[in-house]
Amino acid sequence: MGASQQEQGPLRVALLGCGVVGSEVARLLTQQSADLASRVGAPLELVGIAVRDASAPRPLAASVDRSLLTEDAEGLVARADIVIEVMGGIEPARTLLLRAIESGAAVVTANKALLAEDGPTLYKAADTAGVDIYFEAAVAGAIPIVRPVRESLAGDSVRRILGIVNGTTNYVLDQMASTGMSFDDAVKQAQDLGYAEADPTADVEGFDAAAKAAILASLAFHTRVSLEDVAREGITRITADDVAWAAQTGHVIKLLAIAESVTGDDGAHGVSVRVHPALVPLTHPLAGVRGAFNAVFVEADAAGELMFYGRGAGGAPTASAVLGDVVSAARHRVLGGKGPEESTYAALPILPASTAVTRYQVRLAVDDRPGVLAQVAQVLASKGVSIEAVRQPSEPSVPGADGAEDDGSTGVAHLVITTHAAAEAALAATVDAIAVLEPVQEITSVLRVEGA
Ligand code: NDP
Ligand code: HSE
Repeated sequence: MGASQQEQGPLRVALLGCGVVGSEVARLLTQQSADLASRVGAPLELVGIAVRDASAPRPLAASVDRSLLTEDAEGLVARADIVIEVMGGIEPARTLLLRAIESGAAVVTANKALLAEDGPTLYKAADTAGVDIYFEAAVAGAIPIVRPVRESLAGDSVRRILGIVNGTTNYVLDQMASTGMSFDDAVKQAQDLGYAEADPTADVEGFDAAAKAAILASLAFHTRVSLEDVAREGITRITADDVAWAAQTGHVIKLLAIAESVTGDDGAHGVSVRVHPALVPLTHPLAGVRGAFNAVFVEADAAGELMFYGRGAGGAPTASAVLGDVVSAARHRVLGGKGPEESTYAALPILPASTAVTRYQVRLAVDDRPGVLAQVAQVLASKGVSIEAVRQPSEPSVPGADGAEDDGSTGVAHLVITTHAAAEAALAATVDAIAVLEPVQEITSVLRVEGA
């Protein structure tokens, strides 16, 4: 039963981490304390902030009371009603959250890596202890997407989720396309801006987006989906040339996370989850998602199409999502009640990403002479892959390149073939067969095309 505001003493809040996100959480907790107390029905008292090195300089946390910093995370957790984990990594974050839950504290975390690896352990512990576990900030930064999928759409049937859920890679691809910045320089900028994970490999190799895709898929399809269930390809193989050719053919390259309800060859119904770079037509709303912004499309039976858009990374946007969760958990402390538990009743099989059929764009360099296109088209036909369009565009200028361009006299033609939706296996067999044709010099890229 809840207590009235007059009876309710302060709720003790422990913050684990004071980096990009933690600094902003601490700032908002302090600067908005009066408003938060009114919204919750009790003051929120920040009782400590756990860090690795309490004596380190903290330019991001200039407004934070340094006397709150501690290297004793376990001791801090033991004296909290609500524990906010924004330290990242698997351990000690997992152990600290489990300790918090076992001691009856509600927990809020932004740690998608931990949730995708071992979320069920945390959910089960929270369920057993009867405490809240909230994680809005773990997917797409400031964008409210976890709550809509977990609660608002609980009465509907989600069919597909398609989104840009990693700010770093979107920033990198956007900078490469718009300014010609090198991949490495763009990653460095994303790090400096606080978008990237502690190890940016997690971003550029697609692990971060895959973790988020696993979390969303689990919620949307009431099925446990972990990181290993997600077919993953990052953006490290995307070249400046690919980016320029994408623009030349009316597309932009985005790292997409896709979770969908699929039917396998044997008719079995299941879920497929994948993260990979894809060409998105410039006319599609996802193509306009710039910088570190994220956007998530959700298709549900009754609701139809929904789109969520906003800042997907960065300290303050992420702290906004964290604080929203803190208020929810704190209200439950004051008024009674509890947030939703993990729902895995559907327990659908996870089907391989190859189950999903998509359009592809195959780019190849061929001898520039008559009859070559007919040979290539013949291979596609023989493999049952239908051609949507074939183009022979002029070579694009790569932004930022030094200007040494093909003068058209090299005897090379560039063919860009877009297929209708095809199965991955059929497409792979087609590409293999095209690659060995005598006039084909090189298959320069094979990318999926997503978005109508
Ligand atoms: P940072 O690396 O900037 O900050 C991590 C903080 O945690 C630091 O203060 C660090 O202490 C502390 N910390 C790390 N390990 C320990 C430990 N073993 N014991 C005590 N303290 C520790 O990370 P971010 O703020 O960028 O990210 C935090 C979490 O939020 C991650 O899970 C991340 O995935 C998630 N997230 C991040 C977003 C972003 O845009 N940055 C967006 C959405 C989610 P010290 O300062 O002493 O090193
Ligand atoms: N590194 C993540 C990103 C932070 O770039 O999207 C937000 O989860």
